[in-house]
Amino acid sequence: MRDVAKTIGILGAGRVGTALARRAVAAGYEVRVATAKPVAEIALLLEIMAPGARADDAEAVVAGSDIVILALPLSKYRALRPELFAGKVVVDAMNYWAPTDGVIPEFEGAGSSSEVVQDHLAGARLVRSFNHMGYHEIDEAARPAGDPQRRALALAGDDGEARDLVAGFIDRIGFDPVDAGPLAASRGFATGGPIFGASLGRSEMRRRLQEAALAA
Ligand SMILES: NC(=O)c1ccc[n+]([C@@H]2O[C@H](COP(=O)([O-])OP(=O)(O)OC[C@H]3O[C@@H](n4cnc5c(N)ncnc54)[C@H](OP(=O)(O)O)[C@@H]3O)[C@@H](O)[C@H]2O)c1
Repeated sequence: MRDVAKTIGILGAGRVGTALARRAVAAGYEVRVATAKPVAEIALLLEIMAPGARADDAEAVVAGSDIVILALPLSKYRALRPELFAGKVVVDAMNYWAPTDGVIPEFEGAGSSSEVVQDHLAGARLVRSFNHMGYHEIDEAARPAGDPQRRALALAGDDGEARDLVAGFIDRIGFDPVDAGPLAASRGFATGGPIFGASLGRSEMRRRLQEAALAA
């Protein structure tokens, strides 16, 4: 775990995006947020929902951030321009949920939706995390390190250094990171899976993920 990131970029200023922006500002990061809307409109929203976070366009947010978090509807993933993300550490917090996203054939398979996103953003160092926790818990369940009530957050990705960097971020905003290994392991984080929506500490989360990996 390496706590060396200084700037956090977030694409999406809805429930998850603003909750992560609030936690990141509180933890001392420089935070920039973009959506598909004009910058002035996002700035007004952030004044209320995530004071201290700065609005910008997507290109500047991605280029200027040590970690970029994808907190937009998965149905919009093709709007992300792969060339912007080459070499960047990118956290995929998105879930596939057909009742809201509509049926998207590439997400109907057995793999993790993040494997499809990684294929699209081929040059990105993608890490899946945050997707298994409800947005309100990002605010409410955060605790300092060592607190017996501290909850675990799983992460997975094919780049070990990227996982370390994201683990440092997770720890600093108030959760125990659980490194599940390669991106394929994030199949165990999916909607309806063994950790989705569950309030777990580190050891129980590790146990459930190992069990899921053995069963796969
Ligand atoms: N809600 C939860 O508890 C929860 C928990 C874990 C994970 N997730 C996942 O996290 C993602 C976001 O969920 P949410 O509940 O926060 O959704 P939401 O409240 O609907 O917010 C979505 C945000 O994405 C923005 N957006 C749309 N198109 C965009 C684009 N091309 N580039 C950048 N931003 C764009 C929207 O802004 P504009 O339309 O104004 O551009 C909006 O700010 C989803 O994939 C969801 O499955 C949700």
